[in-house]
Amino acid sequence: MAKTHSQYVCQQCGYSQVGWAGKCPNCSSWGSLVETLMATGEGKKGKAKSQKKVEPISLISVSSKKTSRLSTKISELDRVLGGGLVPGQVVLIAGEPGIGKSTMLLQLADKLRNALYVSGEESAAQVKVRADRLGIKNKTLKFLEETDVDTIVDSFDGPSLVVIDSIQTMTTDDLSGLAGSVGQVRECAFRLLKRAKEGDVPLFMVGHVTKEGTVAGPAVLAHIVDTILWFEGDKSLTLRLLRAVKNRFGPTDEVGIFEMEDKGLLPLTNAEKIFLTKARAEVPGSVVSSILQGTRPLLVEIQSLIVPTKMAFPKRVAQGVDARRLEMLLAVLIRRCGLPLYEYDVFVNVAGGIKVVEPAADLAIILSIASSFFDKPVAKSVMALGEVGLLGEVREVVAEEKRVKEAKRLGFSRPVTQKEIKYVNEVVKKLLR
Ligand code: TYD
Ligand code: MG
Repeated sequence: MAKTHSQYVCQQCGYSQVGWAGKCPNCSSWGSLVETLMATGEGKKGKAKSQKKVEPISLISVSSKKTSRLSTKISELDRVLGGGLVPGQVVLIAGEPGIGKSTMLLQLADKLRNALYVSGEESAAQVKVRADRLGIKNKTLKFLEETDVDTIVDSFDGPSLVVIDSIQTMTTDDLSGLAGSVGQVRECAFRLLKRAKEGDVPLFMVGHVTKEGTVAGPAVLAHIVDTILWFEGDKSLTLRLLRAVKNRFGPTDEVGIFEMEDKGLLPLTNAEKIFLTKARAEVPGSVVSSILQGTRPLLVEIQSLIVPTKMAFPKRVAQGVDARRLEMLLAVLIRRCGLPLYEYDVFVNVAGGIKVVEPAADLAIILSIASSFFDKPVAKSVMALGEVGLLGEVREVVAEEKRVKEAKRLGFSRPVTQKEIKYVNEVVKKLLR
């Protein structure tokens, strides 16, 4: 291996120097100097050009390899990964502190034979407390309390899975920067990834998130890993969503749903109705719709409350729906259905604390506001589905049939979609007057 030394390289202009300074002396940009390993002397640049000629090959002639997937034995995790782990797959799992990343990975390591769990955040005693809580009895599960990435890479012999908790605590002696610095995170992630690929070992790395809600550390981290899983949920509630935001070996936007219990995370396989109140009564302002989470339709309840305003500018409060979208839908209701909502405060909420981002819930929002306005409940069996345009027209949504079918299966026998209703004023007349 060529000898290396570390230098600070500016990410803006490429200028390099030995010591660190806040500002790049060349292009004057702040904070752009990142510690980087450089080859000394006979480096890459100094090498004589290789005489080897490379020939492109016909893609058709490459024999297709069927990748065998290793099941994680956690149904919802398998779903998010696209059917299990691929040998050498590198997964970055990110989320707020306390959301359950360590819990999930310890449960995963317990499910497999010969997994290695490396923690740079917690001591063996601390992890043992969690393991006891989770009821872990697996004798083949190995634990390592270590932050030196080179030591970890050397102990990679034979595990079926390696967990690094977290990449921000790892360091290499070849760089002088602190753990968590851009240079350290980049170099450590790269070394671990290289070892995982060589040994065909699946690797999970925990990543911290920044205040802005992105993975902390260098942008390249997101590019070099195969899969990025995002762990989210309201920490005050027990529900947790695991989302694939990048996946080289499967679909993205697939979502795993878990519940955080006192014995760890439990996959929720019958999640279709999780966001609905158990005993739903016919109350004005409540309408059920169906949203897609990955490929799975979930039923959600939209609730609205309309009260006469005492202000010059009436209040519009949106929980779980986009505030701008709500403004637009209110404009449609005022203009196309003639409801004088400019004299009312409007509160809209999605029950269960889930966010609705697709326009498929438009019709349900409109219907729920109108239902509250007329103080008339919508029948319990109704499931409203449709995007609403500025002309008041109801449009078809993706996977409409699938959602309707699923809703029918769960007892919502009266779907209201663009099939029956072309304009929003019809829906208000038909269901509420
Ligand atoms: P943890 O996995 O430590 O979160 P992260 O690694 O993402 O920071 O989870 C911490 C929270 O989960 C903590 O508030 C306690 C809770 N918890 C449970 O509710 N049940 C359990 O069985 C475990 C292990 C943790
Ligand atoms: Mg943790």
